[in-house]
Amino acid sequence: MGRSTGALAQLVVAILTVAEYALATNTSTMAYWLNPRAAIIQNTTVIEGGTLFTANYSNGGWGTTTSYGSPYGRLFYMSLCSSFNTSTDAVDALLQVKPESSSSVPFWTGGALFATDYEWYTYGYVQWMVKSLLFINDASGLPSPRRKPTDINVIQGTLFQQSAAQSVWAPTVDSNYSPDKSANVSNYIALGGWANAPSEKLGFWFSGLQAANGGVIDTLAYPNKSDQANTTARSFIKVDMSSPGEALWQNLTWPDWLQPRAEGGLVWLPYGDQGILLAFGGVDLPGDQASSGLNLNTTAKVVMNDYMTNIAVYDIARDTWALQLTQETMSPPQMAQFCTVTASAADNSSYFVYVYGGYDGTWGHNPAAYDSIWVLSVPAFQWTKITDGTPAHRRSRHACVLPNPTQMLSIGGGTDRANLVNPDWLDVYDLNAQAWTHFYNSSSTDLYKVPSAITTQLGQGSANGGFTIPSGLNGTVTAMLETRYQKQITGYFPYDYCT
Ligand SMILES: *[C@@H]1O[C@H](CO)[C@@H](O)[C@H](O)[C@H]1NC(C)=O
Ligand SMILES: *[C@@H]1O[C@H](CO)[C@@H](O)[C@H](O)[C@H]1NC(C)=O
Ligand SMILES: *[C@@H]1O[C@H](CO)[C@@H](O)[C@H](O)[C@H]1NC(C)=O
Ligand SMILES: *[C@@H]1O[C@H](CO)[C@@H](O)[C@H](O)[C@H]1NC(C)=O
Ligand SMILES: *[C@@H]1O[C@H](CO)[C@@H](O)[C@H](O)[C@H]1NC(C)=O
Ligand SMILES: *[C@@H]1O[C@H](CO)[C@@H](O)[C@H](O)[C@H]1NC(C)=O
Ligand SMILES: *[C@@H]1O[C@H](CO)[C@@H](O)[C@H](O)[C@H]1NC(C)=O
Ligand SMILES: *[C@@H]1O[C@H](CO)[C@@H](O)[C@H](O)[C@H]1NC(C)=O
Ligand SMILES: *[C@@H]1O[C@H](CO)[C@@H](O)[C@H](O)[C@H]1NC(C)=O
Ligand SMILES: *[C@@H]1O[C@H](CO)[C@@H](O)[C@H](O)[C@H]1NC(C)=O
Ligand SMILES: *[C@@H]1O[C@H](CO)[C@@H](O)[C@H](O)[C@H]1NC(C)=O
Ligand SMILES: *[C@@H]1O[C@H](CO)[C@@H](O)[C@H](O)[C@H]1NC(C)=O
Repeated sequence: MGRSTGALAQLVVAILTVAEYALATNTSTMAYWLNPRAAIIQNTTVIEGGTLFTANYSNGGWGTTTSYGSPYGRLFYMSLCSSFNTSTDAVDALLQVKPESSSSVPFWTGGALFATDYEWYTYGYVQWMVKSLLFINDASGLPSPRRKPTDINVIQGTLFQQSAAQSVWAPTVDSNYSPDKSANVSNYIALGGWANAPSEKLGFWFSGLQAANGGVIDTLAYPNKSDQANTTARSFIKVDMSSPGEALWQNLTWPDWLQPRAEGGLVWLPYGDQGILLAFGGVDLPGDQASSGLNLNTTAKVVMNDYMTNIAVYDIARDTWALQLTQETMSPPQMAQFCTVTASAADNSSYFVYVYGGYDGTWGHNPAAYDSIWVLSVPAFQWTKITDGTPAHRRSRHACVLPNPTQMLSIGGGTDRANLVNPDWLDVYDLNAQAWTHFYNSSSTDLYKVPSAITTQLGQGSANGGFTIPSGLNGTVTAMLETRYQKQITGYFPYDYCT
C-alpha cells in the first residue's frame, strides 16, 4: 500500500539536510509557469512541478527566458503566515525551494497534488521536456541520467505529523513512494480534473489524457511520438489518504453517458455523507498540448461548450453520478485550463465556485487566454460572470488556492504561447472587494459576502446567505443536496498563530 520502510524514512530525512536551492535572484521573476500543482496544507501552500521559465522584466517586456529547475525536483513551500503585497514585495522570495531527492529528478507538469491537512501525493503528469531544455545533455537528446516515469511515479510528502494532541510540523519528502501495483492505478495519465476533500482525507482525479495503449507517457521519445497522451481517459481515480504515507488507490468506473475530457475542472462540495464532486469544463483534445509535440488534430474538436453547462455531479458515499444542466440566463464559453476555488455563504446555504482564467481549449494558431471570473452557484446551478478582466492580466495553466474565505491566490500560468503579459505570477483576488488587490492579509478574519451580482442573478439570498434548493433540479441531484454534510471542515485562518 505504498508503505515507506523505516530505512526509507531515514533516507528521506537525510535528503532534507541537503541545502535548499533558492531562485537565482530576488528580482528575476517567472515569465511563465505552466501547470504547477498546488494545495494548501494548514499554514503552507505546497507547489510542485510545472514548466517554469524565468526572465528579467523591464520597460514593460521580458528579456530572454531561462528554464528554471532545481535538479532535485521542483517543490516549493509558500508560507501563509505572513502578509505580502505583490506590488512591493519580492514575490519570488516568498517561495522556499525544497529538494525532492538527492539525485536528478525530471520535472512534471499537468498532474494533481492530492493533499490532506497533513500530507500530499503527486499524481499524473506530462513530462514536459524537449531537447533544448535543461538536463538534456547527452547525445541521444535524453536527460542524463535519464529517469523514465516508470522509475519515479508518485512523490509523497508530509508536512505535519498527526498526533493525538495537535499536529506537529515535520516536513519530509519520499521520492521513492510507489502506489500499490495491485490497485491497477497507473500514473500514466495527464491533464485531468482533480479535487481534494481534506475533511474526508480523500482525493479524486477525473478523466484527462492517456497514451493510446494506456502505458508510459513519454514525450522524451523524441522524435518518436508513440508514447504521447493523445487519448481521452475513462479513468476516475479515488485516493484514500486516511493512513499517513500509505494511501489506498482505486480506479472507479463511471456511466457511459458521461464524456471523458481533458483540462477540465473537478470541485468537491460539502453535501451528503462524504461530499459531492462537480465535473465540468475541459475539451476532448486540448489544443495547447500540440505545441509540446503531442500530435493532436487541434482543428477538429472545437465545440465543447456544453461541458460548462452540463455539470456532472458525483455523490461520493452513494457512488452515483447524475447530470445537472445549469439554469441559463448567462453561460460561459467553452473553457479549459482554468483554476477554481470555492467560497461558502456564511450560513453554508450555498457554495460559489469561482472559475478564473483559462482558454477555449483550441489552439487555433493564436488562442487568447481568459482573465474572466465566472461563478457557479450551487444549489442554484447558475453561472454569473463577475468580470471579463483585462487582456494584460490573462492566463491559463495556473493554479489557485483560497487560504481564508475571501482571498484567492493565483499561482503561475502563462498566456497564449508562453509569457505572462505582466510580471505577476502570484496575485491576490479579494472575493469581497471583487478586485485584484495584490495584497494577502495573513490576519484576515473576513467572512465571504455574496456579491449582489450573484444574488440579483439568482433572485434569492443575501450577502450572508439564506439560499434554498430550487425546484426543478434533476431528482437525483436534489436528493444529493438534501443530505446535510455533518463533518466539521477545519479552517486554519487567521494565520496569526504562526507569524
Ligand atoms: C532574497 O531575499 C531574502 C529576504 O530578503 C534574503 O534572505 C535572501 O538572501 C535573498 N536571496 C537572494 C538570492 O538574494
Ligand atoms: C537578469 O539580469 C541579470 C543581470 O544582467 C542576470 O544576471 C540574470 O541572469 C538575469 N536573470 C534572468 C532570469 O534572465
Ligand atoms: C506552520 O506552523 C507550524 C506551527 O504549527 C510552524 O512550526 C511552521 O513553521 C509553519 N510553517 C510555515 C511554512 O510557516
Ligand atoms: C500594496 O502596494 C501598493 C503599491 O505600493 C499600494 O498602493 C497598496 O496600498 C498596498 N496595499 C496594501 C494593502 O498595503
Ligand atoms: C487488477 O487487475 C487484475 C488483472 O486484470 C485483476 O485480477 C485484479 O482483480 C485487479 N485488482 C483490482 C483491485 O481491481
Ligand atoms: C482505470 O481502469 C480502466 C479500465 O480498466 C483503464 O482503462 C484505465 O487505464 C485505468 N486508469 C488508470 C489511470 O490506471
Ligand atoms: C522509434 O521507435 C521505433 C519503435 O520502437 C524504433 O524502432 C525507432 O528506432 C525509434 N526511432 C527513433 C528515432 O528513436
Ligand atoms: C495516438 O497515438 C498513437 C501512437 O502514435 C496512434 O496510433 C493513434 O492513432 C493516436 N490517436 C489519435 C486519436 O491521434
Ligand atoms: C483534422 O480533423 C478535421 C475534422 O475531422 C479533418 O477534416 C482534418 O483533415 C484533420 N486534419 C488532420 C491533419 O488530420
Ligand atoms: C439526471 O441525471 C441522470 C443520471 O442520474 C441522467 O441520466 C439524466 O439525464 C439527468 N436528467 C436530466 C434532466 O438532466
Ligand atoms: C488585515 O486583517 C486584520 C484582521 O481583520 C485587520 O485588522 C487589518 O486591518 C487588515 N490589514 C489590512 C492592511 O487590510
Ligand atoms: C459552515 O461550515 C463551516 C465548515 O464546516 C463551519 O465551521 C461553520 O460552523 C458552518 N456554519 C454554519 C452557520 O453552519
